[in-house]
Amino acid sequence: MPATVVVGTQWGDEGKGKLTDLLAKDMRLVVRYQGGHNAGHTIVVAKETFALQLVPSGVLYEHTVPVIGNGVVVDPAVLLNECDMLSERGIDTSRLVVSGNAHLIMPYHYELDRMTERFLGHNKLGTTRRGIGPAYADKAARIGLRVQDLLDPKIFRQKLDVVLREKNAVLSRVYNRLPLDGDEIADRYLGEIAPRIEPMIGDTVALVHEALAAGQEVMLEGAQATFLDVDHGTYPFVTSSNPTAGGACVGSGVGPRDINRVVGIVKAYVTRVGSGPFPTELEEGAASDALVERGREYGTNTGRRRRPGWLDLVMLRQAVRLNSISELAVTKLDVLSIFDTLKVCVAYEAGGVRYEHVPYHQSVLHEAKPVFVQLPGWAAELGEAREVGDLPAPARAYLDLISAHVGVPVTYAGVGPERDQYVSLAP
Ligand code: GDP
Ligand code: IMO
Ligand code: MG
Repeated sequence: MPATVVVGTQWGDEGKGKLTDLLAKDMRLVVRYQGGHNAGHTIVVAKETFALQLVPSGVLYEHTVPVIGNGVVVDPAVLLNECDMLSERGIDTSRLVVSGNAHLIMPYHYELDRMTERFLGHNKLGTTRRGIGPAYADKAARIGLRVQDLLDPKIFRQKLDVVLREKNAVLSRVYNRLPLDGDEIADRYLGEIAPRIEPMIGDTVALVHEALAAGQEVMLEGAQATFLDVDHGTYPFVTSSNPTAGGACVGSGVGPRDINRVVGIVKAYVTRVGSGPFPTELEEGAASDALVERGREYGTNTGRRRRPGWLDLVMLRQAVRLNSISELAVTKLDVLSIFDTLKVCVAYEAGGVRYEHVPYHQSVLHEAKPVFVQLPGWAAELGEAREVGDLPAPARAYLDLISAHVGVPVTYAGVGPERDQYVSLAP
């Protein structure tokens, strides 16, 4: 049974957590394949809200095995806190398996993330300051510590000492910060953390392949999104991993032929948190404030206000290509009920040229002006809709416009944050 990928099509916070949870009711394994605790995935069940950062969104079901794949960067203390938080709320996390090949986020990664941002000044990326970029940089530089190093105190300490010599030189001489103490880090990671993480560590690649071979359903859960992808996103205003569907192969250890379904999550409008180009961004004002308030567009974990804008089908077409998306789940359709008229971007214009696809040259993207079509709103609350027939005609027209423009069917429409607040449009 081939795997399903859930991938964000915009700049994150599309509602991947809710959709992953929804789809997980039919899944055996749910594997996070990249990112770290820069993610904030929200699931609401019977008015209870779960904000997950590292633990895969399938954890709420007893029949699923949540897996943290090799492509994830793990702050083990954050992982343990999250497990404790879930346990206190009656969720069993004992089935969680963590790849030994996943890289560890270390204290110096946080320091370096903050310092790089400070030195960038006006050009800062607006990272989540969770050490994500520096941890992936060390992975590529081959000086990262991995989850499996927690199993071997001698090796952990050797690697730490080598790395810390360089990190402390940079921290103290370049950034004028106090050096970090190796003993303190080793005591914390090996003394407090390792004994609790050890039982979670497993061969996640074998686990995924055994499940696939046994005909069980496997889901690969993306964090961040297509336009935060370090290769395909709006570089440098991106994260440091590959959220696109190709990253699901690398970050979980399956080949492309093991995947047959790619669900693109698209919010009915767009938000972005942090810096970077955003062609359909709303100017500050009443409409922008209304969208942020109605959609509660504040970071799940960071609390930052998200920048709102109209739906951008140029980006979505690109996301369909980049991820070979087979179906779309449109979330937060209910939020748009506040508008009499809706705008949807179908092309860009820059320097007298019309672009149907995202221009590769970012200078063009920075000056691109959206070409909008206007659609009537539906002036009705959608929260109670459960069948296609419950959706007002203009809401259905909105969904039809999306699938017609990007050539992929819309199979779900979200009409509220609760687990059961959706309409299935699957044929
Ligand atoms: P993720 O990072 O992609 O998992 O998305 P977040 O959880 O950061 O942000 C999505 C927010 O929208 C969360 O607060 C969800 O509870 C909420 N949400 C998800 N789907 C819907 C929907 O269809 N309607 C409404 N009103 N809220 C939704
Ligand atoms: P989920 O999974 C929205 C953004 C940050 C910043 C850039 C780089 O909840 O959709 P990083 O800390 O990753 O180095 O920051 O990426 N970013 C996100 N934006 N949702 C996320 O995750 C994000 N994860 C990172 O705001 O602009
Ligand atoms: Mg989020």
